[in-house]
Amino acid sequence: MQLVEKPEKMQALSESWRSEGSRIGFVPTMGALHEGHLSLIRAARSRCDRLVVSIFVNPTQFRGGEDFDTYSRPFERDSKLLREEGCDALFAPSVEAMYGGGSPDLSPSGERVFVEAGGLGEPWEGAARPGHLRGVATVVAMLFNIVRPHRAYFGEKDYQQLKVIERMVRDLFFGMEIIPCSTVREKDGLAMSSRNARLSYGEREAAVSLYRALQEGVALVEGGERDAARVAETIRSSCEKQPLVDLQYVAVVDAETLEPLTVLAGRPSRALIAGNVGGTHLIDNVALPAY
Ligand code: PAJ
Repeated sequence: MQLVEKPEKMQALSESWRSEGSRIGFVPTMGALHEGHLSLIRAARSRCDRLVVSIFVNPTQFRGGEDFDTYSRPFERDSKLLREEGCDALFAPSVEAMYGGGSPDLSPSGERVFVEAGGLGEPWEGAARPGHLRGVATVVAMLFNIVRPHRAYFGEKDYQQLKVIERMVRDLFFGMEIIPCSTVREKDGLAMSSRNARLSYGEREAAVSLYRALQEGVALVEGGERDAARVAETIRSSCEKQPLVDLQYVAVVDAETLEPLTVLAGRPSRALIAGNVGGTHLIDNVALPAY
């Protein structure tokens, strides 16, 4: 596995692979790898000739007061895992290599060009973390231009992020495929996340209530409920029983537009949930059964 730190070197490496006709698979991550990341990596490994994984904790998707500085960075462990998974290149640039040296102005009002996430990026995580999805869209566009993959793999765990990236690739003609991968969960159902490691024992017990609440919503729909507000209310009141969860939002939405639904009928729908548990921001979502 090659460790590549400079964007120009990564571009040259990808170019050489492309010119020999290899199909490049790409998994962007912020590291602290877990089985959720590994499921994306294995899917890419099995279906592409060359596998590139990036590890970059991207400052423009964190807001002031969020956990950028304290985000876990177990680099040696991560790179060993990637070597074992048969990764061809680990792209791990510094913030300076990506955003310029000195003191780059990373604020949205500075001179730097950003990719706006559009209407898909406004509600839910967009409202809970203003600017977050613009930061994600921008860094993913940069990473795509550096790695030039044929396919990139994203987790449904971050459902709104996945939808924004799919839309960006379509609207900006990136000429590549986005492959969605299902959410990998702990035994009790909690969605795996690099942030779970921050939870205390009691918080970890409480965190699973996000998933359990979503499952109550699914059961209601399976029982015949079509009123989206009632499904959302069931999920909300289930989660509110857990005092350690500070619920941010519950939404029952169209799976493509992410707009809230009134009736579950015809089109695929999704239930989204977010909550802060002891200061850790956790999100989850599930597909609702189709009618
Ligand atoms: P990160 O949180 O490290 O996640 C990297 C990828 O792993 C994302 O596509 C995410 O959806 C996926 N993932 C995380 N947990 C998962 C789980 N339990 N099951 C399945 N997939 C899971 O998402 C980011 O990093 C960043 O925003 C990034 C796209 C790298 C841009 O900075």
